Amino acid sequence: MSQKAASQKTAKAAKNVKPATTSTKSLLVENRVFKPAAEFSKKARISSMAQYRKMHEESLRHPEKFFAREAKELAWRKPFKKVLDWKCPNAKWFTGGQLNVSENCLDRHLDGPRKTKAAIIWEGEPGEKRVITYQQLHRDVCRFSNVLKRHKVRKGDRVVIYMPMVPEAAVAMLACTRIGAVHSVVFGGFSAESIKDRVLDSGATVVITADGGYRRGAVVPLKKNVDDALKGGDTPVKTVIVLRRTGQDVHIEEGRDYWWHRELEYVDANCPAVALDSEAPLFILYTSGSTGKPKGILHSTAGYLLHAQMTCKYVFDLRDDDVYWCTADIGWVTGHSYMVYGPLAMGATSLMYEGAPNWPENDRFWRIIEEYAVTVFYTAPTAIRAFMKWGDDWLKKHDLSSLRLLGTVGEPINPEAWMWYHKLVGGGRCPIVDTWWQTETGGHMITPIPGATPTKPGTATLPFFGVDAAIVDDLGKEVGTNEQGKLVIRKPWPSMLRGIWGDKKRYQDTYWSEFKGWYFAGDGARRDKDGYIWIIGRIDDVLNVAGHRLGTAEVESALVSHPAVAESAVVGRPDELKGQGVVCFVTVKEGVKAGRELADALKSHVRKVIGPVATPDEIRFAAALPKTRSGKIMRRLLKQIAAGETLKGDTTTLEDINVIAALAAASGED
Ligand code: WTA
Repeated sequence: MSQKAASQKTAKAAKNVKPATTSTKSLLVENRVFKPAAEFSKKARISSMAQYRKMHEESLRHPEKFFAREAKELAWRKPFKKVLDWKCPNAKWFTGGQLNVSENCLDRHLDGPRKTKAAIIWEGEPGEKRVITYQQLHRDVCRFSNVLKRHKVRKGDRVVIYMPMVPEAAVAMLACTRIGAVHSVVFGGFSAESIKDRVLDSGATVVITADGGYRRGAVVPLKKNVDDALKGGDTPVKTVIVLRRTGQDVHIEEGRDYWWHRELEYVDANCPAVALDSEAPLFILYTSGSTGKPKGILHSTAGYLLHAQMTCKYVFDLRDDDVYWCTADIGWVTGHSYMVYGPLAMGATSLMYEGAPNWPENDRFWRIIEEYAVTVFYTAPTAIRAFMKWGDDWLKKHDLSSLRLLGTVGEPINPEAWMWYHKLVGGGRCPIVDTWWQTETGGHMITPIPGATPTKPGTATLPFFGVDAAIVDDLGKEVGTNEQGKLVIRKPWPSMLRGIWGDKKRYQDTYWSEFKGWYFAGDGARRDKDGYIWIIGRIDDVLNVAGHRLGTAEVESALVSHPAVAESAVVGRPDELKGQGVVCFVTVKEGVKAGRELADALKSHVRKVIGPVATPDEIRFAAALPKTRSGKIMRRLLKQIAAGETLKGDTTTLEDINVIAALAAASGED
């Protein structure tokens, strides 16, 4: 389509949008409502609020009936006997049934026209392009499954995947599911120490990696990080499989390290998928909590897959002719559910891009959307804010008229960013699905249904099917309209986490103890007069930096592992681009000189221990940290200081009131 035709189409579509009634920016009185365009609704699977309400009600009242019907859309080896077996906090879904995830994502599409359809369209950061059909992906997965088998990977074994955003990352994941191995993907931006922690905690015997990956023109030394993680030989890892991606020299340890391409020479492409119980563990994904080390969130087979597929069907309304692009990294849950499992289970075309949005220039994403005629685009508010900052010209150079639906995830989206996304990227014609969910929930929980739900900028709107969400006070009583409370889910849902790897007690304590029988999400929220849910953000000590979860405790423990540091307290402060920035208050040991040099050293120390995602924005040195009489650090005060606010609230419980004044006055190093 020509630019002119595209803009005419856009202008026409914009007229279909119900106009904003008022344009106030305050969240509490956000009145702008955007109804889905009739043209969109007409074709959508769910095309009215009445239909959504009816289905939602059925899913809560008769979950067994509702989910038994939905589950028919999966390919089962053995039908399930019972839909749900629930003894809080342990849920078993679809018991008695057997299936295989890779078979659902690949084999079942090979009987018809999808066989030669693009499963993955990939673009590398330097510009290489690959299109992999379902048939080819199936063959690649079968062959790599045989490589894993050759290295004695068996059902239930754990495999760590630490890879760049290349199709082989998806191949490795799917190969694990084919033979019943449990993968744990570690984000490529994490450090050697983070890999080691995850290897040890999961008991992984195999690591799959690459020599390197490209990010903003530079090579990330993935294999070297793995070498550092495994140094000393005190991990259970026996085998490392290395994909050649960047081609630089890497160390190959005889008897432990094997090149991916060489291994393929020994295997054929015949690998039947193993039938697995519905509740067989599928993957572990580590995420931050408010205390202690990251938690290995465990997901299981049937419920997870059903939810991933179902949300792609109803929330993205995916079609056979869609070109769907989720920009998340495969190392996060969004990459798992919405780049790999959900779209492939649907037989959709999933686009994957390796690198940064501003490489070589700020319009890389728009270039990709134009070139591949992307129809459904799913990204994060932090990215949207970066695009806004870079200016509209980058986007206006490109024809984005192929887009029909937009999505966001990761943090609350501010109404300004929502409006920009709606007008400039969506041309006023694309519904936006603002999807609230978590690593723990496996898939979307609170989200608009694009052909039905009128949206308002900044709210994830209403619960998805099977989700019984409520906002309650500390006693578990539902709060009134527009009052803030804690977000809970009162019923089990198919893709809920099944536990924290190796830590039953922490699972119970973290999610099921605050309110008996209910899942506590850790987020604060409120409901407006229409029942729409507005997520306020975390209420525990978890930071959300550029849509990535980071535990303050993790950053603190990284800091005190530095010899100069006596004590530290880490808090978030509002950040225009990243949502939250990381501010560290540090007291140093006797005789240590605090100053810029040390601050820089501490920043790189945290980078080294956790990874670049956790790099502190600011280090502030203090003589002492403010504590209550019982010795708890007063984060509320530190947050205010970090945000540059004047101090509010009751400080009478302070151990040393002078500490606060000293802190507020202390000038940071940058
Ligand atoms: C936040 C990412 C507001 C929230 C899928 C949650 C959101 C945490 C939204 C989970 C949204 C995610 N609106 N906040 N649409 N989506 N969050 O585990 O605080 O990396 O608890 O999962 O991100 O982050 P996680």
